[in-house]
Formats: sequence, C-alpha cells, structure tokens
Amino acid sequence: MRQALQALTDELRRLKNAGVKNVAVSAESVAALRHAMELHGCLADAGTGAASSASAEASPPIRPMAPPPKAYEPPVLRAPEPVVPKVATPALPAQPPPFSLPTGDKAARWAALREIVLNDPICRAQVRPGKKVVLGVGTLDAKIMFVGEAPGAEEEIQGEPFVGAAGQLLTKMIQAMGVKREEVYIGNIMNWRPQLPVAHGGEQVGNRPPTEAEMRYCLPYLRAQIEVVNPDLLVALGATAAQGLLGFGAFKTLGEVRGRWHEFSGKPLMVTYHPSYILRNQSNRSKRMIWEDLLKVMERAGLPISARQQGYFLDK
Ligand code: URA
Repeated sequence: MRQALQALTDELRRLKNAGVKNVAVSAESVAALRHAMELHGCLADAGTGAASSASAEASPPIRPMAPPPKAYEPPVLRAPEPVVPKVATPALPAQPPPFSLPTGDKAARWAALREIVLNDPICRAQVRPGKKVVLGVGTLDAKIMFVGEAPGAEEEIQGEPFVGAAGQLLTKMIQAMGVKREEVYIGNIMNWRPQLPVAHGGEQVGNRPPTEAEMRYCLPYLRAQIEVVNPDLLVALGATAAQGLLGFGAFKTLGEVRGRWHEFSGKPLMVTYHPSYILRNQSNRSKRMIWEDLLKVMERAGLPISARQQGYFLDK
C-alpha cells in the first residue's frame, strides 16, 4: 500500500511538473485513498470527513501515544533533486549532425558555431513562433563559464541565457565575486526552452526540466562553446545542469556532488545550487552555502578574496 501511495504521489508530482493544474478523481478513488490513509494513520481524525466509513464510526480510532518532546533541531535545507519528466516530447535524433568550426580566432569560430546552432532545424522546431533558440553569451576570453539548465520565458524572447529573475540574481552573485557579468561566459545545457502545453492565451506558463534526450541533443553545442572559449573552469548551476555534465545516474541528490570539484571536457567543474533555489530560499544560510561554493571557484580562478567577501552571509 505504501508503494501504491508513493507511486500516486510521484505521478501527481510528474503531472504538476508537466503543467497539469487539475486532476479529476472519482468518488470511489477518493474513498479508497481515504481508507488507505486511515489504515496508515495519516488522517488526524479518522472520524472526520465525508468519506468516513461505518466501521470507523463503530470502533473509535486508535491513537498512538504522543511521543516525548524532542530537543529543537534546526531545519535541514534541501535543494530540489533532479527531476527528469516523462512528458510526451517529440523524438529527437541522438545528436546534431556532425559539424566543424573553422580554424582561426575565437570570434570567427564562435560566430560559425552560432550560425550552426541558431539554424539547426531540430532546435528551431522546438521553439514556438516568435521565440528564439539560445546560445551562450559573454566574453570569449572568460576564465569562468557558468552553465545553467535551459532558457525560460524571458530568455527565449531575448535569445540570451539568464536574463530573467534567476539571471538577475546570477549577475549579482558574479558581481559579489568581484567580477562583471561581461567578464564571464554564461551558457546552458539546453538551447531551447523545454515545451509544456500552452495556456488558453497561447503562452507557455512555467518551465519544466529538460528530458535526458533533449539534454543529450544539445550537449555537443555546449562542448563546442567550451572548446572555443576555453575557460579555466566551469560552474554547473543546479541539479539539472550537474546531471547533464556529470552524466545521468551520476548522483541521487545534489548534496552528494555540490561544493566539490569534478571534471567535464577536461575542465575543472564546480557544482553549486541554481540561483532560483536562492529565490525560493532567501535565508542567509542558503546564500552562504552557494557563496562557499563560489569562494572555492574564486580561489581556483586566482581571484582576490577580501576578508569582507570571506564573511558574506555568515549572519544567521
Ligand atoms: N535558468 C537557467 O538555467 N537558464 C537560464 O538561461 C535561465 C534560467
């Protein structure tokens, strides 16, 4: 029964991630669920609610003894785990057609790559009319390359990664490191916004994480950007980016891999939280966790670190 309930909650979560707002449930299913919850002691009072059964009325519910009061424990912060949705996405080729970049300077190579990606028919087919395929931005001499998940609503309009709310926070994080946004390179695993069904007005509401097949298709374009820019190190932002770079099944929880050095495409790779995690958890404790990861990045990149920077977000 526990497994069935787990499967049900997983399915509801999947539907929610896929943008489904309402689910129709029959009266029989509601009654069966209520019965299961009563059996597992999930309902505070088995006698309340319209679906309480005759047997529950006949025999009063057995209440477990109240546990002894516990010493206060601070809440454990949990970043969202990678969720790969099982949504109906169009079948994609395993990878883009083979491509090669011209020899020459970085600018010429990057411009050629941009032409290839923006005109890739598979990428173009994933974006809705008027929306853009998105390639990374920044200086081609960047020492640090940030890698996010996928463009969102604002990004697919402007054709630039990280320009929405999470992007504005990322810009602040970069500035806190003593660096300007224009001095780094910012890319994404994905070159398009993963599609969800559109709302009545024709606009997609919300985002979903990309599927494994979608990430696989776009990864060669990220590798090519890394090859052209040749940064000293990479920073993966969030569980999905980490999953794309470290490989599927490489970890179960972001906590296993964040704050540590890994490798991708021959470059040192730091994994940290996505800025949107901080948008949802504004505590200094959350900010400090991401900041400690960025201090490691600064150290490895040879950036100066002042005593003030060392102490950011230490206040509880
Ligand atoms: N989140 C991402 O991961 N990438 C973007 O470009 C914007 C938001």
